[in-house]
Amino acid sequence: MSPSEAKQQIDQLSAELKQHTYNYYVLAMPTITDFEFDKKLEQLAALEKQFPDLLDADSPTQKVGGFITKEFTTVKHRWPMLSLGNTYNAQELLDFDQRIRKAIGDNFEYVCELKFDGLSMSLTYEQGKLVKAVTRGDGTQGDDVTTNVRTIHTIPKRLHGDGYPDEFEIRGEVFMHLKAFDRLNQERVDNGEQPYANPRNFASGTIKLQDSSEVAKRPLDCFLYGLYTEKTLFKTHWESLQAVKDWGFHVNDESRLCHTIDDVLAFITEWDKRRFELSYDIDGIVIKVNNYGQQQELGFTAKSPRWAISYKYKAEQVQTQLQAVTYQVGRTGAVTPVANLKPVLLAGTTVKRATLHNANEMLRLDLHQGDWVYVEKGGEIIPKIISVNLEKRDPSAAAIEYITHCPACQTQLKRQEGEAAFYCPNDEGCPPQITGKMQHYIGRKAMNIDGLGDETIDTLYQKGFIRHISDLYVLKDHEDDLKQMDRFGEKSITNMLDGIERSKQMPFEKVLFGLGIRFIGETVAKKLAAYFKNIDNLMAASFEELIAVDEIGDRIAHSLIEYFGEEKHREEIEKLKASGLQFVTEEKEVTLASDTFAGKSFIISGVFEKFSRDELKDIIEQNGGKILSSISAKLNYLVAGDNMGPSKLEKAQKLNIPIISDDELMAMLES
Ligand code: IVH
Repeated sequence: MSPSEAKQQIDQLSAELKQHTYNYYVLAMPTITDFEFDKKLEQLAALEKQFPDLLDADSPTQKVGGFITKEFTTVKHRWPMLSLGNTYNAQELLDFDQRIRKAIGDNFEYVCELKFDGLSMSLTYEQGKLVKAVTRGDGTQGDDVTTNVRTIHTIPKRLHGDGYPDEFEIRGEVFMHLKAFDRLNQERVDNGEQPYANPRNFASGTIKLQDSSEVAKRPLDCFLYGLYTEKTLFKTHWESLQAVKDWGFHVNDESRLCHTIDDVLAFITEWDKRRFELSYDIDGIVIKVNNYGQQQELGFTAKSPRWAISYKYKAEQVQTQLQAVTYQVGRTGAVTPVANLKPVLLAGTTVKRATLHNANEMLRLDLHQGDWVYVEKGGEIIPKIISVNLEKRDPSAAAIEYITHCPACQTQLKRQEGEAAFYCPNDEGCPPQITGKMQHYIGRKAMNIDGLGDETIDTLYQKGFIRHISDLYVLKDHEDDLKQMDRFGEKSITNMLDGIERSKQMPFEKVLFGLGIRFIGETVAKKLAAYFKNIDNLMAASFEELIAVDEIGDRIAHSLIEYFGEEKHREEIEKLKASGLQFVTEEKEVTLASDTFAGKSFIISGVFEKFSRDELKDIIEQNGGKILSSISAKLNYLVAGDNMGPSKLEKAQKLNIPIISDDELMAMLES
């Protein structure tokens, strides 16, 4: 290869790798596997070795990787957060073992740990209290995400027992359990939001949220795997793991002390099979020399320790042929492309379909008719197409273009600025949107109507009985017509009509959720119902009044205003009211614990270490106090936690309203 050819390849690989690093760290949306990334990095390193003159200080081979996001305070790491070298087969591990033997002799042990697939986090403790949590960032400095990390229940805010140093750092991996991932991602799809591709992206997307109350709603967990102290307290890594467990840290129980590289290989083989039993994703095994003195002797390269390495499992991948791309229209009108595949066995299940997410993903894959594609399954339930096998592409095959019109009603699709999904705007006339909305309404989490299922909704719609939710409540007037329908027995009609009748008793919060307003999930509906007490107050609320409510942000407020701004929606609500549905929150009888706060009003804002906002609200109300919706001269106290919005603070200060902490509130109660 000539130097000019080498330069061209080096430039190309560097640019590609930088883009992938950006996709991974900043967008949290990687488009290639770690394996492919490492192969490209190796290729670049090999070229740079062959042509040392072409080595650039800015080359991806010279960096740990990572970018820092803008919105958080940047903190320099006391000890750099390095990465690990990767191995992919037994031979590479045996080579690692040989390098170690050469440097420190034969008398040493390894600790094998699972390699959790999340994002690394550095926690600082002072006098037993969590004072700082920082992301890895570029390895030298990261983002201060302390308020977000405080919402993770398994990270101790105060340590147990004693024996911990006054000041230390501990590092670990923040991740999301697969069950929580599936549940929350489904909620995103139901609310018309873009789902995350895997639990890792969900976890890193969550840690980077600006609003820690939103973080608190997404359950994260954290395994700790590295103690950093000024003076060494323990002789070995293994001892330190046992000790930090006693201080209250979540340490993974699967770690194993291994005496030989064969023990290490056995551990790797065992977990290659068992990894699918875990409630979280791992992407490999980390192998560490146990003794701290020996670790020191081995030292570091510029990027990683010489005393540790990772063994990466290959995500199971298979090749299969694309049969067609079809499109699904959700109840919010969002159009999702789906790849229909020739059935193939992957990680124990037969795969027939893979999600294509949106138009951007279609563009990335540039699918052609009959393409052979590589399908991979990670933690996510629905497999993903990783890439196309271009060698097998028929040169005459036509490219598959994203549709321009709704597959169900032929209306031209629209895309809102900044959104990845295309929408069908015909919400009144597009069948899957109409039936989807009704199916959501009757669903278990909403009105939970017995005797009525998704298929019956489809049939009733096709026969022209229902177009709106309110039509369900006049079905009883058409009982005779219903009886004429095929496969519709008298008994099932009675059951259905009884179920519909009973739904009139469902509480306001369920009705509100059932309406299927964009971004109004179950919890938000509950909050709104509790706060505004009835639909009229909610419909009359201004943007400012809406965002003054706990956990209601701009996006939700805009969605509500837009929804209630439409005449057709107001008419529908009137019809539902006339049918006898609940649009008023039932007041619960509260017995007061005391009248300490009688005549006093409060607003609670921010996040608190010891209480949730709901707990504080209950404490105030049970002692006779009132919670107000927005800051005004009438307000007596603002109870402020961490991360409170600056505008609220400013307003309270302007009006000279006392700002108190949760501790001060409790002190008032005790006095
Ligand atoms: S030890 C010098 N142990 O893997 C780096 N890392 O590829 C010491 N990771 O940045 C890291 N599980 O985010 C270590 N049991 C484990 C791990 C682990 C996952 C992550 C971590 C690290 C990355 C390195």
